Amino acid sequence: MKEKLFDKFAELFGNADGARFYFSPGRVNLIGEHTDYNGGHVFPCALTLGTYGAARRRDDRKLHFYSMNLDSFGIVEASLDDLTNKKAYNWANYPLGVVWAFAEKGYKLDQGFDMVIWGNIPNGSGLSSSASLEVLTGVILTDLFGITDLTMTDLALIGQYSENNFNGCNCGIMDQFAVAMGKKDNAIFLDTSTLKYEYAPIKLKDAKIIITNSKVKHSLVDSAYNDRRRECAEALAELQAGVEIDSLGDLTPEEFESHKSLIKDPVRLKRAKHAVYENQRTIDAVSALKEGNIERFGELMNQSHISLRDDYEVSCEEIDILVDLAWKIPGVIGSRITGGGFGGCTVSIVKNDAVDTFIETIGEAYKEKVGHEAEFYTVDIGDGASRLDG
Ligand code: GLA
Repeated sequence: MKEKLFDKFAELFGNADGARFYFSPGRVNLIGEHTDYNGGHVFPCALTLGTYGAARRRDDRKLHFYSMNLDSFGIVEASLDDLTNKKAYNWANYPLGVVWAFAEKGYKLDQGFDMVIWGNIPNGSGLSSSASLEVLTGVILTDLFGITDLTMTDLALIGQYSENNFNGCNCGIMDQFAVAMGKKDNAIFLDTSTLKYEYAPIKLKDAKIIITNSKVKHSLVDSAYNDRRRECAEALAELQAGVEIDSLGDLTPEEFESHKSLIKDPVRLKRAKHAVYENQRTIDAVSALKEGNIERFGELMNQSHISLRDDYEVSCEEIDILVDLAWKIPGVIGSRITGGGFGGCTVSIVKNDAVDTFIETIGEAYKEKVGHEAEFYTVDIGDGASRLDG
C-alpha cells in the first residue's frame, strides 16, 4: 500500500522525499447503539479496513488533498488563510475541518501540507470512513508539526468537534474514539459520559464476527439522526422535572420505568426507552463476554436490533431482511444493525462451521428479495490510528 500511495504522491508533488506514512481504521460497533449522545455505554472495535495516508509539510500556507478513491476530484487545494467549508472541496472538507478544529483549539498551523489518501472502507457502509479520515488527519497534524500535548482521546474529540461544527453532522464520540483508541483483538467498553474505557479481548474460539453490507444508504441518515438526538434531549428534559439526572444513561431500566410517565409523548417515550435499555444491554453484554457466555451476548445483540427497529426506528427494510435471514440460520449467535442506521451494515456473530452457509444463504435470498447483492466481511480487529513508518 505504501508504494502505491508514495508513487502517487511523487507523481502529484514532484517526489515523495520526506513524506510519512499513516493508517487510520474504520470501526464496527458490537452493541450500544445511539447511546453515545445519551451518556451511555458503547462497545465498538477498530477494523483492519481503514484509510491510509501519505503526508508532508510544505513551505507555504497551501493545503493539498488528494484521494486515490476519488481521482476525478483531482488535487483539492485550500489555504490556511481560509479555513471554511466549501462545497467544491467535497470529501476534503473532512481533513480541512480537522485543520480548522486544531486552529479553534489553539493549534494554528503556520505551514501547509500535502496529503494523499486511499481507503478500503466500503463507501457509505456506516463503518465510519469519515471518522477514520478525521482521526488520520489529526495524527498527521500532530506528527508533521511536532504537537506533543494532544492525546489520542484529544484527537478523537477534535475529530468529533470538526464533524459537528465544520461538517454539520451532530454525531456522538463513539466513532472517532474507536478509530483513535482501537486495539488489536479487543473491543472498547466506553462510558461516553466520562470517556472512561476498558479494553475487552474478543477471543471467539469457534465463531467469527461477520459484517454484512446491505449496500443501501437512505437519504434520511443525517436528518433522522439529528431528529433522534433532539427527541432524546426533549425526553431527558421531561424526566429532569422529576428526577435528578444528567443524561438518559444515568437511569437504570427500573428507574426509567418508575419515572417514564413524565414523558408526555409516545414517540419520545420509545426513544428514551431504547436509550436506557440499550445502555443496560451493553453493560450486560460486556459482563456476559467476560464470563465467556457468548450465547447471552448474542441474545442481547438480537434484542438490541429489535429495539432499534421498533422503538428507535432507525432500521430499514433491507437491513431487517438481512437480520431476519441471519436469525434463521443455525449457528448464528446474534445479529443486529450496526452504526447510525437507515442502511449500512449488520454485524453478526456466527459459528465457524456456519459461516459458509451464512454467506451463501443470505447472499442468495437477499439478492432475490432486494435486487442487488450484499457484501460480507470477516472482521479482523485492528489497532487505532498511527504513523506506520516511524
Ligand atoms: C453514528 C454516529 C455515532 C453513533 C452511532 C449510533 O455512527 O456517528 O456517534 O451515534 O451513529 O450508535
